[in-house]
Amino acid sequence: MNGLLKFITCGGVDDGKSTLIGHMLYDAKLLFTDQERALELDSRVGSREGKMDYSLLLDGLMAEREQGITIDVAYRYFTTEKRSFIVADTPGHEEYTRNMAVGASFADLTVILVDASQGILIQTKRHARICALMGIKYFIFAVNKMDLVRYSQKEYKKIEKEIKKLAIDLELNHVNVIPVSATEGDNITLTSSHMPWYKGKTLLDTLETVNIDEGTEEDGFILPVQRVCRPNHSFRGFQGQVEAGSIREGEEITVLPSGEKACVESILVGEQNVAQAQKGQAVTISLQREVDVSRGCVLVKDKQLCVSTMFTASLLWMDDAELMQGKNFLLKLGTKMIPACVMDIKYRINIHTGEQLAASKLYKNEIAVCDIAAGSLLVYSTFAANKGLGSFILIDRLTNMTSACGVVEHSLRRSENIVWQTMDITRQIRAEKMGQKPVTLWFTGLSGSGKSALANEIEKRLSVSGRYTMLLDGDNVRMGLNKNLGFEPEDRIENIRRIAEVAKLMNDAGLIVLTSFISPFASDRRNARKIIGEENFIEIYVSTPLEECERRDVKGLYQKAREGKIPNFTGITSPYEAPENAELVIDTSRQSLEESVEIILNLLQERKGTNAMGKGT
Ligand code: ADX
Repeated sequence: MNGLLKFITCGGVDDGKSTLIGHMLYDAKLLFTDQERALELDSRVGSREGKMDYSLLLDGLMAEREQGITIDVAYRYFTTEKRSFIVADTPGHEEYTRNMAVGASFADLTVILVDASQGILIQTKRHARICALMGIKYFIFAVNKMDLVRYSQKEYKKIEKEIKKLAIDLELNHVNVIPVSATEGDNITLTSSHMPWYKGKTLLDTLETVNIDEGTEEDGFILPVQRVCRPNHSFRGFQGQVEAGSIREGEEITVLPSGEKACVESILVGEQNVAQAQKGQAVTISLQREVDVSRGCVLVKDKQLCVSTMFTASLLWMDDAELMQGKNFLLKLGTKMIPACVMDIKYRINIHTGEQLAASKLYKNEIAVCDIAAGSLLVYSTFAANKGLGSFILIDRLTNMTSACGVVEHSLRRSENIVWQTMDITRQIRAEKMGQKPVTLWFTGLSGSGKSALANEIEKRLSVSGRYTMLLDGDNVRMGLNKNLGFEPEDRIENIRRIAEVAKLMNDAGLIVLTSFISPFASDRRNARKIIGEENFIEIYVSTPLEECERRDVKGLYQKAREGKIPNFTGITSPYEAPENAELVIDTSRQSLEESVEIILNLLQERKGTNAMGKGT
């Protein structure tokens, strides 16, 4: 018996998808096996020696499940004498792209239905492209409804030619085209007498015999560590599913990203000690010496993986809200989950023509090539070299939704080739010369809340006491460095990122920096804190209520905003996410300017040692 085949069917509403599968099962005297029994059967031919392997069921859905989202993908199970199958049946409409992508991520093969009376449609191309993006290597195009075109070889050849062209465009290597009629049962399980000119196999025969393991024999070994287990003092095991290759007792592995090496002491599969484990098995590995390993590390042998913070990826955007450059997410790749940012949308792909289009935003169901920066070192692979470590999802930090799935195209050499230049004159030397400890006082709050007035007053006081300072103010910086930025969310993200980088440079120069920006988004402030450094970052939330800011309306902007003359005005038509863990909260409607200044200066005093007031104060 051939191994389990996981496949997906793609087609529009009227393409006859269900009829096709239904007919195949009916002809072959099969009924959908109920799930439990099917799993039992699948497990028998699968890699777990007869034990129920629920991962078969969950594979493609895992990421979604973890997010607690139910996706409308129906999994069906059936078994013939030659093979067991799981088929993911997904709706074909454009609004269901997310479901299709989830289904495709689980499948080894796709059956794409083409209506012979209509030929290749835009949706056929969309389905093919998404399947290719999600790493499916085996394609069957079932040219259906041949009865409607009188089983015409000429009509079929025309469509076949178009499919071949599509296959070249998408660089598909394993493509079968089969003329069928789902309603009449031609070439489904039995060779059609209506189309003697077709010499190939039937659909079922193709599904039963296709060898999806071709060329997958591989050297080396990859184990992404899912869990470190310590049942007692003497045992420390690293658990996970072998992603590629095999490992034997005694062999030397390398831990990534650290690069530390150690030899394998023991391998457990379940409770059983084994001498060797291979791809697909869930194992616990212990090493002969203590090395630093945690969840998200990868154990490898004879494999080249990428270790860096930046890569270029193809993304399928699935969120209702649009993707903006600079947006922060949680990135889940292999067993690792870390903060990451979509730095740059390089281009969007026209799903129908493959054309590359300029884009600064991505809308639902669009595919684009983007540069992604991870918050810390990441161990990954190109998708071409390894599916598991070459694919990832982006999770929205607020809604916890899976916003995108993506595959790694290549690592960004930029991040590998840029080496931090060590300088002899350090931040510390510069700061010591100035006799102060550089920090950044980050004021955030609504327009008119009193940020700038406060920052200005503090700077004066610091300056008078001999400190070297710099005040960066929203309106002023937007007249120079950031004059190319407006108030769309993506502009604000970039505004704050640049200010954080500038503040850091100024801290490096030894200066005490005060920034006065609305900085309305929590994730941007978090990012700024990271750039500037936790120990140098003092967040001051100027919490003056909106009513009071609007009453003051110093610049007359609130009135204009209320009149609809300023779009995206913070507090009116654009959100302000109040800080939850600011170092200080000041409400200028309750505290006078003098009081507020004293509170802030006192905080700086308290931070003596690490304080901004320097040694002498
Ligand atoms: S931020 O949101 O990107 O941090 P920033 O602090 O640089 O904003 O600029 C805010 C200042 O720009 C406000 O004080 C106000 O004077 C002016 N401004 C003009 N348009 C807007 C707007 N749509 N929303 C908020 N502020 C605006």
